[in-house]
Amino acid sequence: MNIQTFTIRRAEPSDAEAMQKIFSGPKAIWGTLQLPYPSLDRWRKRLAEPPDGSFGLLACVENEVIGQLGLFTFPQNPRRRHVGQIGMAIRDDWQGKGAGSALMVAAMDLADSWLNLFRIELEVYTDNEPAIRLYKKFGFITEGTLKSFAYRGGQYVDVYTMARFREK
Ligand SMILES: CC(C)(COP(=O)(O)OP(=O)(O)OC[C@H]1O[C@@H](n2cnc3c(N)ncnc32)[C@H](O)[C@@H]1OP(=O)(O)O)[C@@H](O)C(=O)NCCC(=O)NCCS
Repeated sequence: MNIQTFTIRRAEPSDAEAMQKIFSGPKAIWGTLQLPYPSLDRWRKRLAEPPDGSFGLLACVENEVIGQLGLFTFPQNPRRRHVGQIGMAIRDDWQGKGAGSALMVAAMDLADSWLNLFRIELEVYTDNEPAIRLYKKFGFITEGTLKSFAYRGGQYVDVYTMARFREK
């Protein structure tokens, strides 16, 4: 079996085109809160001025960016300093090939071993089976359901809130 290896690196302002390409995919849009027709200029600005305490990680194959994960922390809020939030998307043509797992390994190591985060939280559409499987594989548990959380393709959709608590 051909096992693909992914290089993980930090996102840079020059990655705007790759981000626009990831979020041009119908499956990436379906699973996230992004809108169709992503703007290159908006991605340039987002990558050039990332919020304090945010970590954009990219999965690459032979230097080509094929997936992204954002880990957001709360350095300005003393009582939420133990918390991180994540969101991620793999380019449509690379889903189901292990890139999401590779990004999660890197993000959980960053959270546990370097940022000292105790709680990682996320929201996932209740019908997004691949994502829910991925998160459960990394120790996330379902905490609750938020009804009609977002509008997607003409319908309101529910999300599960999931969290992972670091083992001591
Ligand atoms: C969800 C997503 C990030 C997962 O990343 P990925 O690279 O496709 O996932 P991997 O290949 O590492 O597989 C992770 C798990 O999902 C499962 N999976 C992958 N594709 C699947 C599919 N089509 N149906 C069911 N399970 C699937 C795998 O089986 C694997 O679990 P396993 O180890 O138990 O087999 C990716 O599919 C994606 O970007 N989807 C669109 C955007 C999105 O939904 N983002 C998440 C927002 S919360």
